Amino acid sequence: MTTRRNFLGSAATAIGTMPFAGATLAQTSATAEETATATPAASSYGASTADKGLDVISLPGLKEPFEAAVPEAGYVFVTGAKGDEWTLRENRRAMEDFRIITHRLTGVSPADLDLSVEILGQKMPFPFFVAPMGAHRMVHEEGEVATARGAGLAGALYCSSGASNRTLEEIAAATTGPKWFQLYFNQDEAVTKSLLRRAKNAGYSAIVLTADALGPGMPDRFRAMGAPFRPDASFGNHDPARGGTGDFFAQKADLTPADIRMIKNETGLPVIVKGILRAEDVDPIIAAGADAIQVSNHGGRQIDGVPAAISVLPLVAKAVNGRVPIIMDSGIRRGIDVIRALSMGATCVAVGRPVMYGLGVGGAQGVQSVLEALAAELRSDMLLTGARSVADLTDSYISVTGPSARMQEG
Ligand SMILES: Cc1cc2nc3c(=O)[nH]c(=O)nc-3n(C[C@H](O)[C@H](O)[C@H](O)COP(=O)(O)O)c2cc1C
Repeated sequence: MTTRRNFLGSAATAIGTMPFAGATLAQTSATAEETATATPAASSYGASTADKGLDVISLPGLKEPFEAAVPEAGYVFVTGAKGDEWTLRENRRAMEDFRIITHRLTGVSPADLDLSVEILGQKMPFPFFVAPMGAHRMVHEEGEVATARGAGLAGALYCSSGASNRTLEEIAAATTGPKWFQLYFNQDEAVTKSLLRRAKNAGYSAIVLTADALGPGMPDRFRAMGAPFRPDASFGNHDPARGGTGDFFAQKADLTPADIRMIKNETGLPVIVKGILRAEDVDPIIAAGADAIQVSNHGGRQIDGVPAAISVLPLVAKAVNGRVPIIMDSGIRRGIDVIRALSMGATCVAVGRPVMYGLGVGGAQGVQSVLEALAAELRSDMLLTGARSVADLTDSYISVTGPSARMQEG
């Protein structure tokens, strides 16, 4: 079995640095401030303490104010990606391969529009939710508690990352909305089972098994800065000072479909497998009992050179063939991106970095503003697409062009 430390150790040796040294140190050093539920005071690290609604012109437009609102380490950690960041850019470029073919004179009025979806028994007012993202205290002093509260204020589902700074219980208590828990499967089965038990007890209604990552993504620029994770922020769920156990970095690298079955047996909850890019991976995952598949390249944070999630979505959707719902993330920034993904077979999408922009600039209310702005944009784009409900979106609304079209040809 490849351990996280072995894996990183050899990678680190190869590049002559120790990328996770700071993070390892941080694992057991929670502060009193971190345990508090009220808005914490400013720290010497200098993360945002904002809590204000934002006038969001566009989600990408928040990147600049985000840079001004958070420490450089937080900005680089969130906005960067792996290697040359080709996949990060490709996630956006490839959206342009999916041209929207609008219907006209369809008689759809704003009052008719229905953006709601249901997935795994969960009704959602709009077809997107907050992607699992770790280490929110790199951005905001309150960390994930603020993000989850903001998601709840917008009525959005919050997916809590296994790499959160706050504990999964604190996060669960902070949101009034639905919630899923994202699992980093630990080599120590007792640790994995304890995380699953805690997630179930805290009211999470599904487990997201991340299959494409072995920890926080490390952009080159972040490593060049010395991987400056906050020394005063822990991986909350593993912090012994807060009831946690296990080594966050001891993640199981050799995952197999049998691990899906274990999660289901242990929790009785639906399991979503996140990080799928290849049609051939679908059958064994569904055979093992997966309840949904999340097409994602982790926002380009784990391996560079893989295609855009939107480019492979049609291929994965063809392989899934309606057996389970599909979620997509990586590159969602606009209402039209949601339309593109849903037309190509996704039931809903997850929004990543823009939520962090909202967190940094406006705290919980900033997150609410981001989600509501995306919903408003989607509403207007849907009306102009000519589809009455998101369920009406099919590939007839899309013309696939460019490199993405060539990928469909095989
Ligand atoms: C700062 C940051 C931390 C992340 N941490 C996790 C994580 O802990 N678990 C996980 O499954 N995905 C994680 N992701 C990936 C997101 O779930 C999602 O796949 C990605 O953000 C989508 O790309 P986009 O933000 O460019 O749209 C993280 C992403 C970011 C930006």
